[in-house]
Amino acid sequence: MATKIRRIGLSLGADICWPICYEELLKKLDLSISDGKSTQRFEVTRVQIEPFDLRQSCQYDVLIDRLTHWFHTSREWIKKSILMDDLYVFNNPWSLQSMEKHTSYCAMMRLGFPIPKTWLIPPKSYVESPDLETTLQRYAKIFDLGEIGDSIGYPLFMKPYDGGGWVGVSAIQNREALLEAYDRSGTRVMHLQEGVKEHDAFVRCIGLGPQCRFVNYDPDAPLHDRYRTNIDMLSESDKKMLADMAMVINAFFAWDFNSSEALRSNGAWQLIDFANACPDSQVTSLHFHFPWLIKANLRWSIFCAATDRPMHANLNWQEYFEIADQQKPFKEKLADYSKMALDYFEYDRFNEFCERHLAHLDDVAHEFFGSEIVRDAIHQKVATLYPEHEIDEFTELFWSRIQDWRRLQTA
Ligand SMILES: Nc1ncnc2c1ncn2[C@@H]1O[C@H](COP(=O)(O)OP(=O)(O)O)[C@@H](O)[C@H]1O
Ligand SMILES: [Mg+2]
Repeated sequence: MATKIRRIGLSLGADICWPICYEELLKKLDLSISDGKSTQRFEVTRVQIEPFDLRQSCQYDVLIDRLTHWFHTSREWIKKSILMDDLYVFNNPWSLQSMEKHTSYCAMMRLGFPIPKTWLIPPKSYVESPDLETTLQRYAKIFDLGEIGDSIGYPLFMKPYDGGGWVGVSAIQNREALLEAYDRSGTRVMHLQEGVKEHDAFVRCIGLGPQCRFVNYDPDAPLHDRYRTNIDMLSESDKKMLADMAMVINAFFAWDFNSSEALRSNGAWQLIDFANACPDSQVTSLHFHFPWLIKANLRWSIFCAATDRPMHANLNWQEYFEIADQQKPFKEKLADYSKMALDYFEYDRFNEFCERHLAHLDDVAHEFFGSEIVRDAIHQKVATLYPEHEIDEFTELFWSRIQDWRRLQTA
């Protein structure tokens, strides 16, 4: 039988730890997957940034990308490769580039998702441009910010409409603080969002293809402790609802890899931030959950490469809206959306594929995450982030959490 090489590319920025683990574990899996006509082998390489002829071919079948959202040369090479060479990319670059927080709120509000009351307000000041003065004089309506704040209620959150990474986010307790925060907000277009009060759970749902991981998140803890290591904090019905919502968001926007943030207050979940289509993948944040990410990434990328999964560059929003417009409870609509999302991610075929071809992954990963390669990858990452005198201590901390994961024999 002929051998076919499936090429997976990693388009990387400052990433250190996860690519090392991805590459090494792929090697250890030593895959040979027959598709009836040929034996497929898998190779992974790191993509270089270089000039390119628009008509030159692309050597990759699948690309895991970490640059599109900010690095234009790579973004445009990726778009060209999807359009001209059928490259499959995590994530759809058009969708990643244009679907910021605001778009994701509107789309999911339309589908009926529980999202706190949110207003968009024009910015406090503007960058000069030729028609600015005339436009503002003619059409910028004077508004009473205090009144909008009162109608939303306090506490509320002021945050950039396209935000990410906690930049420009403020918790606001009263009208005075709102006016002050607006005065400081400069040229950024802001949302004002009702605060989810007295929440007793904060969960990040990390989606990778049809796979989902729930992480208990503590935003007030120091960076290395924000991802908590307890994994049994959710009931089965909570898990089902959160997984359904996360999968629908990801399928709707064609995001293979995204994380959604949900808060629970009085037994009800609210989604506050779910356009994070380049989620934190570093061992220094994920530690205990890091092996899950590497395994999930391998499973989904190998599946996409081996099955020639087509890139879905066109989105099918209308089909979701048709369900949204039906007169029935949200629970039933969510079940319908979820079915579409699981079809989109080929849930059944993916699981069969994993059972058949990747059954050894868990054992190989279990051994690998106890190896010196992993300890060294952690050390390399820690050395870029921590002061000299803390490098050993934090390397040991993240290593020990991964060893806890191994001991627990969990996913
Ligand atoms: N509506 C809200 N209710 C309660 N807390 C919120 C709300 N919005 C934001 N926060 C808090 O602020 C943090 C940052 O806001 P978020 O919307 O996640 O922005 P970013 O995209 O910058 O992560 C959240 O992790 C949460 O702790
Ligand atoms: Mg967030």
